This record gives sequence, C-alpha cells and structure tokens, in this order.
Amino acid sequence: MSVHKSNIKKITTHQLKEMKNRGEKISMLTAYDFSMAQILDAAGIDVLLVGDSASNVMAGNETTLPITLDHMIYHASSVVKATKRAFVVVDMPFGSYQGNSSEALRSAIRIMKESGGHAIKMEGGSEIKESVMRILSAGVPVMGHLGLTPQSIFKFGTYTVRAQEEAEASKLIEDAKMLEECGCFGIVVEKIPAKLAERVAKEVSIPIIGIGAGNGVDGQVLVIQDMLGITKEFKPRFLRRYADLDTVITDAVSNYIEDVKAGDFPNEGEQY
Ligand code: KIV
Repeated sequence: MSVHKSNIKKITTHQLKEMKNRGEKISMLTAYDFSMAQILDAAGIDVLLVGDSASNVMAGNETTLPITLDHMIYHASSVVKATKRAFVVVDMPFGSYQGNSSEALRSAIRIMKESGGHAIKMEGGSEIKESVMRILSAGVPVMGHLGLTPQSIFKFGTYTVRAQEEAEASKLIEDAKMLEECGCFGIVVEKIPAKLAERVAKEVSIPIIGIGAGNGVDGQVLVIQDMLGITKEFKPRFLRRYADLDTVITDAVSNYIEDVKAGDFPNEGEQY
C-alpha cells in the first residue's frame, strides 16, 4: 500500500495534552472555508474549529440553531482540505446529538467520514454523557463545551456570563471532571468568570480552552471574523481585535468600484 505523507508534523490530541503539561498555551481559531483555513494553518495555528458559529457569520442567522449536519460537513471538508498542520475540530450542530446516543454516534461518524475532520465538539455536561461515551467508544475524539452554550440560548434567554452563582459553578466543575473521566481530549469554556475557569484548568488534566474565560486556562479560541474586525457590531468585553478588515475591505472595494466606473481597470498590462 502506498500513502502520501507530508513532512509537516500534524498536531494531535496527545500533543495538545503535552502542551498543557509543559505550560505552553494552545491557540485555536474558527475557520469555515478553504482560503481562510489555508492562511490560518500556514500562520501556525494549533487548532482550527469548524464552529457552528458558521450559522451566524457565514449564513447570517441570529443563532446557531438553524445550521445542519450537511452544512457543517460542507464547511469542515473545505477546512480539512486546506490544513497541513492544525488539528481540526468540528462542531456537532443542534439537533444532531441531543435526541439519543445512537443518533449522536451516527452524526459523529458522518462528520468524520464525510469531512475528514479530526475530532468533534459537543455542548453540554451530564445531560449528554451517554452520547459522549458512545462516540468516544467508536474511536472519535470528543471535545466538550461548557459555560455559555449557544445551542441552548432559548433555554437561558441571554448571552450573559454563566456560572456566576455557586450552584452553576459547582455543576460546571463536576461536568468538566465527568468529561475528563469519559475520555474527552479537551473542553471549551465560554463566558464564565476567570477564577472559575482557572480552577477548572487546575482540577482537570485535559486542556481547557477559553473564550471570554480569562487567562488562567490552557489556551484561547476566538471566532475569526470577530478577531479580524469583520463583524463590527459585535463588541463583547472579551474580544480583542487584531485587524480592522471591515475598513480594509471597504476601502479596497470602493477603489475597485471607482476604477471600474472610470474605465481605469483593466489597463493594458491587465489584459490579453
Ligand atoms: O461555534 C463556535 O464558534 C464556538 C466557539 C465560540 C468556541 O463554539
């Protein structure tokens, strides 16, 4: 049997755990398409998340609920094709795993087979334990997601900081330990107090990746459109913008329109 092997060393779940052990922070960003994933991978990102936030930033929906398994597989296969080094995690969309563990396993297997992704991510704790275990037992790496879980937005009614009360904080710690015991390779914690996130990262041995969860965790994740300044209206306190692509793109497109209208593009050197 002959297989093509690239020289680039791919990130694995084992390496992510080692990074935590030696105190090296893990970098993670979302990606939904080939061109962007290629740039992020070449820049050296450790983990690419094909997030169901594609529902918001790619499809223009208000919530993550409408995106389907087929949509996620489409986005994920584009990202996987672009990736040489990063570990690619794919979100299980709303409705693809909450029903029962057989359905959850079927959905996870479809993602792995049809997109080529390296792992799946699921929102929730004890409520989804059976599905998490069943997927793990099929050999599919699972990442948990606790704290603000956008797929449950209509249950909570707001996107405010989670687990500020003792009862919710204790459940979150218990859920994190449960996910670790089941064999998850990591957990995203979203919009929870920094002290609580730090405690979780200390009390479990698997990598804890934060978004709006402070600096005491093992790595950070952001939505790529947010950190590049494309989604201008979205301004949560936790977001740091690393570029103002809205302005860059608007200026470029305005210049293009001006050149086309003036008959200035293409010039002689830009034609055959
Ligand atoms: O879908 C997503 O982008 C996510 C991140 C916010 C962690 O789950």
